[in-house]
Amino acid sequence: MTVQLEPLIYEISQPGRKAFSLPECDVPGSPLPDVTLLRDPARIGLPEVSELDVVRHFTHLSRLNYSIDGGFYPLGSCTMKYNPKLNEDVARLSGLSEIHPLQPEETVQGALQIQYELQQYLAEIAGFEAVTLQPAAGAHGELVGVLTIRAYHRAHGDFARTKILCPDAAHGTNPATAAMCGFQVITIKSDKRGNVDLNHLRQMVGPDTAGLMLTNPNTLGLFDENVLEVSEIVHQAGGLMYGDGANFNAILGIVRPGDLGFDVMHINLHKTFSTPHGGGGPGSGPVCVKALLAPYLPSPVVDKEEKKGQTHYFFREVSETIGKVRSFWGNFGMHVRAYTYIRVHGAEGLRTVSENAVLNANYLMNSLKEVYELPYDRTCMHEFVLSGRRQKANTGVKTLDIAKRLLDYGYHSPTIYFPLIVEEALMIEPTETESKTTLDKFIEDMCQIACEAEEEPDLVKNAPQNTPVQRLDEATAARKPQVRFRCFG
Ligand SMILES: Cc1ncc(COP(=O)(O)O)c(C=O)c1O
Repeated sequence: MTVQLEPLIYEISQPGRKAFSLPECDVPGSPLPDVTLLRDPARIGLPEVSELDVVRHFTHLSRLNYSIDGGFYPLGSCTMKYNPKLNEDVARLSGLSEIHPLQPEETVQGALQIQYELQQYLAEIAGFEAVTLQPAAGAHGELVGVLTIRAYHRAHGDFARTKILCPDAAHGTNPATAAMCGFQVITIKSDKRGNVDLNHLRQMVGPDTAGLMLTNPNTLGLFDENVLEVSEIVHQAGGLMYGDGANFNAILGIVRPGDLGFDVMHINLHKTFSTPHGGGGPGSGPVCVKALLAPYLPSPVVDKEEKKGQTHYFFREVSETIGKVRSFWGNFGMHVRAYTYIRVHGAEGLRTVSENAVLNANYLMNSLKEVYELPYDRTCMHEFVLSGRRQKANTGVKTLDIAKRLLDYGYHSPTIYFPLIVEEALMIEPTETESKTTLDKFIEDMCQIACEAEEEPDLVKNAPQNTPVQRLDEATAARKPQVRFRCFG
């Protein structure tokens, strides 16, 4: 059989080079039972490279990555805050990193204590009664949360509740989750101030409403001024309130979503409690619930009991569970990092985190709103949404071009074209970990780009100029990545 080689895959390979030194084999070699089981590269032989070649190759690749450790990352909705290195030190302690998920409970009491206490802290900070740490991301948490809502209605013999309401500002994962759980999605309009439009909500809510999914602060970076009325309207109709806690970083220690009427909420540990984001995983999206939904949480949860005068931590099965949603016990390393962050900051420190996140966002917003349009001109929370509408109308430079030009200035781009209700949206979230120096430089550079759009629009339209690759077909690049074993420079 002829194997088609990717042309550049092995371009730094040289016959005879190797990066390992193993002792002579002292047992007879044994042929593979079925060579066709091997993937192509293994069948034609692995690249032959020295240790230094490998180190240089991967070091080089890592330098091409943009990271929060490398520069400002104002990616709205994603809370790209700095992840303290202390979290990493604790997660790497051998007593935590070298345990096996199948070890008997008695041998991992410390790990279980961390998980138990993390559940308690999250419940306390968010104002709920029970928590699962199993979900591996925010969207996964949404799935769990909406399944608990479904299980609750079914357990009460209420099969007529077939609809989930989602504001038009919602993150795409909210309606997608509701649809995946078999609900019909009903979109609720936002009003002129960016809140849920109460009149529209009253028209759409009814005996078929299973619940409403609300992000608060919402994706416009605004705290919904009507949230208590929204909860009341939904509850009066017999529905439940789902809180998308992706924006929890704005309100830690200031307000508890559980006190606002939410019955269930996911928390993205990677956004609020400083754990790495990592390309769709290994994140962590714990789900907090009020007591009425606790019987449906994924099983097991971590609990504790007193045994012969000693505290014993154990996995407790949940009575009417929706089932297990993650192998073993969730992304434990992330739990350790979030736990460390909470313990280091304490209650006061967490409140300060949010206050500074909100302060930084308002400082940026007020400094940029003369240059870029600000569709919802209100005090923002931890992020805000500008519009590139003016630039597009006056110069033909689109928001996409502005985002690409920011790459030339050494930044990660903000989130663009989301939320969908803002034309030419530029969603900026500085986070609390950025200094005023960084924010001032960003303001200066954003103003400079606005000038360039007026004076040299083609420069912006053809950006980026200074990056390893220029404009890509991003959908194809993501779906059919050409991962090459290529040595740059
Ligand atoms: C408002 C909101 N909800 C949900 C999610 C989904 O979270 P995750 O990326 O952890 O799956 C995000 C992610 O950006 C978000 O911003």
